[in-house]
Amino acid sequence: MSAEKEVLLDVKDLQVTFGNGKKSFEAVHGVNFQVYKGETFGLVGESGSGKTTIGRAIMRIYPVSGGEIIYKGKRISGKISKQLDKQMIQEIQMIFQDPMASLNERAKVDYIVSEGLLNTHKHMKKEERMERVHQALADVGLLPEFASRFPHEFSGGQRQRIGIARALIMEPSFIIADEPISALDVSIRAQVLNLLAKLQKERGLTYLFIAHDLSVMRFISDRIAVIEHGKIVELAPTEKLFEHPLHPYTQALLSAIPTPNPDVEKNKKVLVYDESVHDYSVDKPSWIEIEPEHYILANKKEEEEYRKTLEQHS
Ligand SMILES: Nc1ncnc2c1ncn2[C@@H]1O[C@H](COP(=O)(O)OP(=O)(O)OP(=O)(O)O)[C@@H](O)[C@H]1O
Ligand SMILES: [Mg+2]
Repeated sequence: MSAEKEVLLDVKDLQVTFGNGKKSFEAVHGVNFQVYKGETFGLVGESGSGKTTIGRAIMRIYPVSGGEIIYKGKRISGKISKQLDKQMIQEIQMIFQDPMASLNERAKVDYIVSEGLLNTHKHMKKEERMERVHQALADVGLLPEFASRFPHEFSGGQRQRIGIARALIMEPSFIIADEPISALDVSIRAQVLNLLAKLQKERGLTYLFIAHDLSVMRFISDRIAVIEHGKIVELAPTEKLFEHPLHPYTQALLSAIPTPNPDVEKNKKVLVYDESVHDYSVDKPSWIEIEPEHYILANKKEEEEYRKTLEQHS
């Protein structure tokens, strides 16, 4: 990536805590990452690692309990002005994992797709709104007459397209796609990914793409952050991460990716990640740029080891 990349989203020391007092639970423990304008930034980690929580904190659905979120140079976490709030509702949109659960079954597609507009453009004429609904449907490859139907009349793939149309109608700059294909049939996953890629190219969209497996990520992400138990442990440009993963957790995730070759697959060793390899009792870990654009969570001792490994690679 070139040097003049523009930071669209800057997540600094983000903490998200659920509940309070003794029963509180910190789901995100101080994560740092930046998303560049126009890129696809992948966030990958196992179930329960905090991916959706980070997405929802950026969407301002969950309050932050520490750190801050900066968008286009402005803080959007915590208390913000009405004007900025309105701008964020329009600019940052989310696409959800389960199109079977995320659409309102009682509402027609027309309402589902235009709900955001109804909130932000209260005085928009019905004709104009319908025109925008039809356009948004066309943009995702659906027919205008679908507007008057109900979600249950559609397949999973079509429903996910409706979810995408619902985001697009707002003309966002930044889209958080939270496992947008994992609930879909394998046969239609590629179609939805291709649609997202096409829209990105045409509109210069920026994506935060959330997934729990790395194999899909390789093809769509420019950079990838690996999250484990509410902490990002490694972040690097995609090829760098695949060529020389440094953190043992990343290595374990990579070793679990199935390969198309059955012989390789049969003899493959899947690594098991053991958290106790890190002795953080005295030598505490911090977030380090170990080589340009390659970040890792490591203490002093680990940092030295990782640097040695990198020297052997070059
Ligand atoms: N609203 C909530 N209240 C309390 N705890 C929550 C809430 N939402 C999430 N959590 C907890 O926070 C942790 C992270 O959850 P999160 O949904 O962010 O994980 P995830 O990485 O998106 O997982 P998945 O891959 O299953 O979607 C989990 O332990 C979860 O149980
Ligand atoms: Mg999730």
